[in-house]
Amino acid sequence: MKRLFLANSKGGCGKSTLTVNLAAALAGKGRRVLLADCDPQLSTAAWCERRPQDAAPVEWVVLRKLKRLAGFQPPAGIDWLLVDTPAGVHADDLGKLLEPGDRVLVPMLPSVIDLDASERFLADLAGTRPVAAARVKTGLVLNRVRADTLSARAAVERLAGQPFPLLAQVRDTQAYVLAAAMGKGLFDYRSALALDRQQDYTRLLRWLQRD
Ligand SMILES: Nc1ncnc2c1ncn2[C@@H]1O[C@H](COP(=O)(O)OP(=O)(O)OP(=O)(O)O)[C@@H](O)[C@H]1O
Ligand SMILES: [Mg+2]
Repeated sequence: MKRLFLANSKGGCGKSTLTVNLAAALAGKGRRVLLADCDPQLSTAAWCERRPQDAAPVEWVVLRKLKRLAGFQPPAGIDWLLVDTPAGVHADDLGKLLEPGDRVLVPMLPSVIDLDASERFLADLAGTRPVAAARVKTGLVLNRVRADTLSARAAVERLAGQPFPLLAQVRDTQAYVLAAAMGKGLFDYRSALALDRQQDYTRLLRWLQRD
């Protein structure tokens, strides 16, 4: 079983949106996906409850707090455990839960306020033992990107100075909001718009599948 943590101490950067969209993408490829909602807001658990019967199945567990993951034993046969974490999480607390082979994705928005906060989180994360020892792979996602904007270009340049790769620039689109309301992600659709937006994830999905 592979584990992926979606984390950033900054709120509203897209942790839950990315969690459910990656869950739908992996489930759509036939993987058995378990989503652990470690946020008392329960955004991802509610998405799972809304998920239609005919969509690729995503299992879920409500933990409400990140530290509860430590005592949680997923059922046998799960391919991917996706962990949605709350805003305000401390990198040290996350670091204590990380095991060799785990992956961490840090979504962030292309604004100076968001990047300032996110970079502090990244610096703390880089200092945790499993990440510093390169036993845990960490990647960045720029979310809600509006193509050809100065803020997006500035964010990409700024993130080039990070020790972690920028794996995706996920464009801003209402499709995420509409799909989430129905318990779906972009990978549940085959429309021209959905197929185009799915391309934002090509590199990220390759990174996930690499050992
Ligand atoms: N790429 C996107 N395009 C358009 N809207 C988006 C996108 N990503 C996220 N959103 C919207 O932005 C808002 C915040 O996203 P989300 O809830 O996923 O962030 P979060 O990091 O999980 O927040 P929190 O810290 O509160 O848990 C939501 O309303 C979501 O629908
Ligand atoms: Mg959330």
